[in-house]
Amino acid sequence: MSVPRTSDEIRQAFLDFFNEMGHEVVPSSSLVPAGNTTLLFTNAGMNQFTDALLGLEKRPNPRATSAQKVMRVSGKHNDLENVGPSNRHQTFFEMLGNFSFGNYFKKEAIEYAWMFVTEVLKLEKERLWVTVYTDDDEAAGYWAKHVAPERVLRFGAAENFWTMGETGPCGPNSEIFYYTGPIDPFTQPERALEDGPQGVNVSDDYNEIWNLVFMQYDRAADGTLTPLPFQSIDTGMGLERVSRAVQGVNSNYDTDLFVPILNRIQELLGDTDEQRAEKWIGYRVIADHARSATFLIGDGVVPGNEGRSYVLRLILRRALRYGKMIGFTGPFIAEVARAVIEKMGHHYTELREQESFILEALKREEASFQRTLDRGIALLDDLMNELRGRGESVVPGEQVFRLYDTFGFPYDLTRDIAEENGFTIDRDGFDQAMAAQRARARASGTFNVDAWAEHYRRLADDLPQTAFLGYDYAALEQVPVQVVAIVDPESGQMLNEAATGSEVELLLDRSPFYAEGGGQVGDTGVIETEYGRALVQEVQKPVPGVWAHRVTVVSGTIRRGEMARATVDAERRWDIMRNHTATHLLHRALRDTLGEHAQQRGSLVAPDYLRFDFNHLQKVSDEELETIERTVNRYIREDLEVMAEEMAISAAQERGATMLFGEKYGDTVRVVSLCGAGIGTGPSRYSQELCGGTHLLRTGQIGSLLIAGEQSVSQGVRRITAITGRAAEEAVRQQRQALRSLARRVGAQPDQLETRIEQLQQELAERDRQLQAIQSDLSWRQLDTLLSQVQEVDGVKVLAAQVEATSAENLREMSDWLRDRLGNAIVVLGAAVDEKPLLVAAATEDAVKRGGHAGNLVREVARVVGGGGGGRPNLAQAGGRDVDKLPEALAKVGDLVREQLN
Ligand code: SER
Repeated sequence: MSVPRTSDEIRQAFLDFFNEMGHEVVPSSSLVPAGNTTLLFTNAGMNQFTDALLGLEKRPNPRATSAQKVMRVSGKHNDLENVGPSNRHQTFFEMLGNFSFGNYFKKEAIEYAWMFVTEVLKLEKERLWVTVYTDDDEAAGYWAKHVAPERVLRFGAAENFWTMGETGPCGPNSEIFYYTGPIDPFTQPERALEDGPQGVNVSDDYNEIWNLVFMQYDRAADGTLTPLPFQSIDTGMGLERVSRAVQGVNSNYDTDLFVPILNRIQELLGDTDEQRAEKWIGYRVIADHARSATFLIGDGVVPGNEGRSYVLRLILRRALRYGKMIGFTGPFIAEVARAVIEKMGHHYTELREQESFILEALKREEASFQRTLDRGIALLDDLMNELRGRGESVVPGEQVFRLYDTFGFPYDLTRDIAEENGFTIDRDGFDQAMAAQRARARASGTFNVDAWAEHYRRLADDLPQTAFLGYDYAALEQVPVQVVAIVDPESGQMLNEAATGSEVELLLDRSPFYAEGGGQVGDTGVIETEYGRALVQEVQKPVPGVWAHRVTVVSGTIRRGEMARATVDAERRWDIMRNHTATHLLHRALRDTLGEHAQQRGSLVAPDYLRFDFNHLQKVSDEELETIERTVNRYIREDLEVMAEEMAISAAQERGATMLFGEKYGDTVRVVSLCGAGIGTGPSRYSQELCGGTHLLRTGQIGSLLIAGEQSVSQGVRRITAITGRAAEEAVRQQRQALRSLARRVGAQPDQLETRIEQLQQELAERDRQLQAIQSDLSWRQLDTLLSQVQEVDGVKVLAAQVEATSAENLREMSDWLRDRLGNAIVVLGAAVDEKPLLVAAATEDAVKRGGHAGNLVREVARVVGGGGGGRPNLAQAGGRDVDKLPEALAKVGDLVREQLN
């Protein structure tokens, strides 16, 4: 095989090499880490193997290899500020890795690495340096077989001990560096023009390409290290860095991974090469951040105000700010993202599938940022001016928090702008304001879920696992079970018995009750012993595998150890199952209609309705909703078979079953499929989802589905609520009843309701017209009486009066009419139209010749009512604010005319 040169070739060569060495090729996991984790983003290839490294999960093959999408934004592994100036840092990168789970250890890991670097990539051995942990003689010994001993360096924990984050598997490591600076070709080719040992871990010319971690410990939150059950290997090689080494260029940004993206930026800006070279930092920031944003949105994260969404927003906004600095005046980020998708989409196919969603999300964020910027900068300017006026140079934390919390202005941006203007920020004050707000949010919750779950975690070892019987419909009634424990949920005490009136949690050896999970609410029903009866209100799983039945004892006493009969409220459960199976159909129909990006973000499956949250940027239109509803109902009529199967997660993945981001799945998963018998044109397997919920046998049992509403949940997430089965039937019945009763009221048949209402509307409009005619007639009549109020000023007739008018036009007509009537006159009329004062002035030609000027006149008069206006000498109009001042304004007319005529 020829030596790999391009990044695509290197990625493939890596996976192939380790596959040949017996490693299972595992696809990259999402950038959103699965399961309970303190990680914000996937930050290493080993994340998805944490359980295997800790010995909690046994993988069929103890060797794996992957090319993993990784984000490092802040903390010990990277800092946002590095990105741009640094030749070797990005927020997003690809990590090639090989893993051993209790299989091979240091010796083989080092051998494989050496083989790959020198035989597959054929990197020059004279440029290689390695490091090991300070006391790791073993690793140093293996290296010494290949590398001159003076090239094997030892470092302390800061450099050579790897931890994923606060907690998790960790251990000493060994790193491979590749010197990328010049080597003197003439003298001593083996003695490179290097800094020598002192350059490693210091100089940028020493490119750290590969990290081999010897996993040995599990780190607890307090920092204690517990040895792992077995020793493992986790390696990580940055694709960008190794491409830089292979391609012999000076920075990651000069590799084929970035060049096309940087070229696109240059095209968009129309920069010359010199200009591009000058603005290199901005170019890099935009290229890197466009990559992270594209990948994050591809993994379902949308810009927002919390957690991952906030970090994405921060990254994007940093890119947008740099964009402005290097000369972008309009939107650009989606265009750069297009280049990212062109470059990466063939390997990370999710980018292609979600292309339109990604681009749309970016465009929206860019537009919204522009609005935030305009508003925030204005506010911050005012604030800084005020502070300057008081001779202060620190922006108070509370104000920074207000900008963030109320106006969505990011903290980092406030800090940057403040610093550019010579201010500092009161970070403590900001943190305090933030903490205070969190405390307020917490205090508003009532039941302390944390304490409750904690009780159970403490008891966990004494609690038996509950066998779930409830997938079987036959097991919903009168199932014999045993009460194995009674727990007081407040104190966490185990009780021997619970008497009438007490509210406790019963644990059973086996249970037909579904415990709340996967969005589906828990079952309710009855648990009866010979001596007592309890109503089940709620069922939860406080720790995995343990069902806590929250009950109220309504008669007698329930004792620990007794046999009991458990009966699920079956009618309610069937309603729930209808909604759950319908939820899967809705998910399918949403993606059919809106596109594959419309992935589930959350759901609630209750007896009376279902709620489904999914990714989508704009409102779902009425037509789309109709299509979705029709599609679901078609699937219902096709009476698809519901199949639930247990299988290995890898088998589910292979089949393409839908998994949810951020869910942690075990080895064996349950896949719920909806299968057709080939009716219609679709595939025979319509939907496959990983799901632990309870479902119908066939979709026909749903009856029908009606969409009840559509709304926004947060930026980029929409919610549909729907009803099925009995609820749908009831809703239709009620609507028909309402229609009939409405029809009766207006004296029509239901199917003629529309015509009847149109008719009524016409009648109403006709009456409106008549009413207006009467009003206008009345307003003309008032004019006659006005003629008696005319005064004379220097031989010109002057009339100033307040009248009733319906519009400006009406008022103008009146003044025309009066002016023509009077001859040689000036007329000023005022009226309240829509609760605002309105003035019109009109002057005859002879009055104008004498010096009269309607425009000037009305302007002066309008001032009194708090307004302005003007116009021609013969006709003018003005408005104002204060209706009550109209009489006072009109009273000035006489004097003003007198001045004009003189
Ligand atoms: N976990 C190590 C790293 O991220 C090796 O993969 O560097």
